[in-house]
Amino acid sequence: MRFDFVKPLLVWYNENARDLPWRRVKDPYLIWVSEIMLQQTRVEAVMGYYERFTGALPTVTDLAVCPEDRLLKLWEGLGYYSRARNMQKAARIVCESYAGKMPESAADLMKLPGIGEYTAGAISSIAFGQAEPAVDGNVLRVVARIEAISDNILSESVKKKIREELRSLYDADDGTWGLLNQAFMDLGAGVCLAGGSPRCEICPISSYCRCFEKGLQSELPVRIKKQKRRIEKRTVLLLRRDESYAIRKRPESGLLSGLYEFPNEAGELNPDEALAKAGSLGLMPLRIRKLSEAKHIFSHVEWHMTGYEILVAPSEFSSGNGADTPAPETASEGELLIFAAPEIIESKYPIPSAFEKYAKMINIRMGKKREELTYENIDRRDTEL
Ligand code: ADE
Repeated sequence: MRFDFVKPLLVWYNENARDLPWRRVKDPYLIWVSEIMLQQTRVEAVMGYYERFTGALPTVTDLAVCPEDRLLKLWEGLGYYSRARNMQKAARIVCESYAGKMPESAADLMKLPGIGEYTAGAISSIAFGQAEPAVDGNVLRVVARIEAISDNILSESVKKKIREELRSLYDADDGTWGLLNQAFMDLGAGVCLAGGSPRCEICPISSYCRCFEKGLQSELPVRIKKQKRRIEKRTVLLLRRDESYAIRKRPESGLLSGLYEFPNEAGELNPDEALAKAGSLGLMPLRIRKLSEAKHIFSHVEWHMTGYEILVAPSEFSSGNGADTPAPETASEGELLIFAAPEIIESKYPIPSAFEKYAKMINIRMGKKREELTYENIDRRDTEL
């Protein structure tokens, strides 16, 4: 790789860096939180979550001791919840084994749950000035274009080669690796755009770019994905009793583990099957209404959902005591159902974004969209319950 683009790239970054909340801080914990959030989520989407999360849990100790439901509530809407769980596991290790101080080297960071090669490189370079590359999709694209690499940039061997080349590219030990990594990120996000429309006319390093020289912008980089997503049909049931709706906790392991959901079944149930399902949960259906369809995309699977709202008869098992936190009830298939009013579900139970469309139908706003529900009043509500 030719190394002479580094200096002009750093000069450009110095003048054009995006002003992002995690770039205004030095605290490695805050930088870690931002990097975990940014793993699978766009910068614009992360901003609000980052402010809310770090406002509620400003230190690694706060994260380590945070009750799980509250943690997942703060993460609600960001998706990929294992990121939050792993971060909490890692926070506990940092508290117990590193006296609450994040390790500085990429090698030590990678021993923590949820921190892979990219994130370790980002934290060690940005927070601690270590000479480590942080190779994400943006960096791969930029480097593949500079070098006119025509191999599949999603293959592990190409990623490894690019990482090694970058490492040998720049042996500065003056703390500027964090800047270089972020310069690549910003160039990839705003100039060296994916698809056939990079903005080469404003690129500070186009004169060093082989792809630009050869006019291969719409062909490179090559990205060949290994597998297609599986499509899974599901039927979501909004089971209404008086002014309350049924939710249940998902299993402790697997997809969306430990979060709460509206009861749902694999497959596209017809109204009779949906009513039978409500009956099998020990409820007596009175009325059924078809709801619109919704789609949610996970990394390996797509849920194509349909839904029903089913009004069920008041139950003698109802908690019915006016308490804010409803007691879970045992339904007949052994599933624990909780009947709660929408505002209680909204403030107390983390619901994955996959159910957002159905949650909205009963006036539950989720994640960042709960504008007036800042972390301060989440705290207050938690103690009142
Ligand atoms: N994506 C991942 N890390 C980032 C950072 N520090 N700044 C901007 N985008 C990012």
